[in-house]
Amino acid sequence: MKIFKQLFCALLVVGAVAARAKSCSQSYECGTQPFAHCYNMTAKHMLPGFGLDNGQHTINFINNLGAVDNRPDGASFFGRVSMDGGEFEVIEEIESDANVQNGQRVVQMYNYLESKHIPYVVNSKATAGNAGIGPYANHVFTQVWSVLSVYLGMAFDEKNNIMYSCDLDIRKYNKIPMTFEDRRDNTTMYTGQTCSGMSYYNGKLYFSANSAAGTSFYQADTTCVNCDKSKLSAIFNESSYIHGMTSSDTDIFYTSSTGIYQVSLANPSTKKQLSSDTKAGTIKYSEGFVYYQNDNQIISIEVATGKTKVLYDTATVARQNQCYCATGFSGDQCETCSGRIQWNNGIPKCYRENQPLFCVQDYECGNVPFTLCNYGTCSCRNNFYGAKCDQCDYHIIWENGIPVCEKNPTA
Ligand SMILES: *[C@@H]1O[C@H](CO)[C@@H](O)[C@H](O)[C@H]1NC(C)=O
Ligand SMILES: *[C@@H]1O[C@H](CO)[C@@H](O)[C@H](O)[C@H]1NC(C)=O
Ligand SMILES: *[C@@H]1O[C@H](CO)[C@@H](O)[C@H](O)[C@H]1NC(C)=O
Repeated sequence: MKIFKQLFCALLVVGAVAARAKSCSQSYECGTQPFAHCYNMTAKHMLPGFGLDNGQHTINFINNLGAVDNRPDGASFFGRVSMDGGEFEVIEEIESDANVQNGQRVVQMYNYLESKHIPYVVNSKATAGNAGIGPYANHVFTQVWSVLSVYLGMAFDEKNNIMYSCDLDIRKYNKIPMTFEDRRDNTTMYTGQTCSGMSYYNGKLYFSANSAAGTSFYQADTTCVNCDKSKLSAIFNESSYIHGMTSSDTDIFYTSSTGIYQVSLANPSTKKQLSSDTKAGTIKYSEGFVYYQNDNQIISIEVATGKTKVLYDTATVARQNQCYCATGFSGDQCETCSGRIQWNNGIPKCYRENQPLFCVQDYECGNVPFTLCNYGTCSCRNNFYGAKCDQCDYHIIWENGIPVCEKNPTA
């Protein structure tokens, strides 16, 4: 964990936007235009939903930083806060909001692909005025799902690049969909089963569904194909409708209008109340902690001790009328860029030298063919590491001009 913390600190140093502790009422007071902005953060600016990035020890979510001169609806930023708490660090501005078409806005963070650092978001009017869900990658929102009248459950098994979903059926996508086309490779696991929440953890898939009892929790067999829902294993019932759920190896955790509860899988007939926060929504488990969001805060609860800690609070952390530099810029006038500047619809962005914050082509990441532009983020190819991504602890074999760091070359 120490290494992750050091990594996070290192990332902060090279980080995207310097939130400059300088108050303002107009953007020109913050420095050179359009490199500097005066944001008036409103009290409720956190969009619902968040994701955990265990590798970087952060909680990633979207903030709307309020109206600025040329953005009457405000600008939304995808960013992160340390799992230990702290300031919101901007990763990137949601550009589809900046180039508003037909009033489209990102209104919710639906999920997070940790391995690719990509948020899945809800866009308010994706097609024909209807809301859509999909990844926001490479500065672009791609609609994969429409928002239907039933809840869309979504859980990732990132290690195997599999996504589980439920709407009218429980389904498995054999590759996590990044486009509408990717949805074709799917298998129906259980037919005719809706859900109200879904969680995948260490090989186990759980979900909740509204029932006559209130909410019923089930475990789904991930190998089931076209199974009847009578084959599901029922675990326990809860008399209320839940707001969110998550799971660990040993427990299910859920949020409801009366608080947050922990139910042991070994003894599902008793529940333990972890919090009386009636506004708790999204909840996620990681390494002995649950993290949850209410209207204004992100809070952690250490499961073993019940100790809670407010990690981010819009009321205290958010400051009204504060100067921010455009992505990647720093300095008193927001004019400093140590990489190179790229313009998009009148918005400047500073990309790091040899390693842009966001990439389109592999060559932008420096050392091809060892480096890779992975959905907008530079990374090393599988199992490679090092500053030039050319270190490999196993055997390097070449396939069609592409290096592969192979653990079992004979397998
Ligand atoms: C900033 O927002 C607050 C809260 O909405 C408001 O009271 C204040 O007048 C705003 N400041 C400016 C300069 O617009
Ligand atoms: C599942 O895949 C089939 C084609 O294989 C496609 O027609 C269908 O729309 C997909 N279903 C969903 C819910 O994505
Ligand atoms: C949950 O409630 C349903 C009725 O909606 C009932 O059929 C089922 O047996 C209950 N399950 C458990 C595990 O208590």
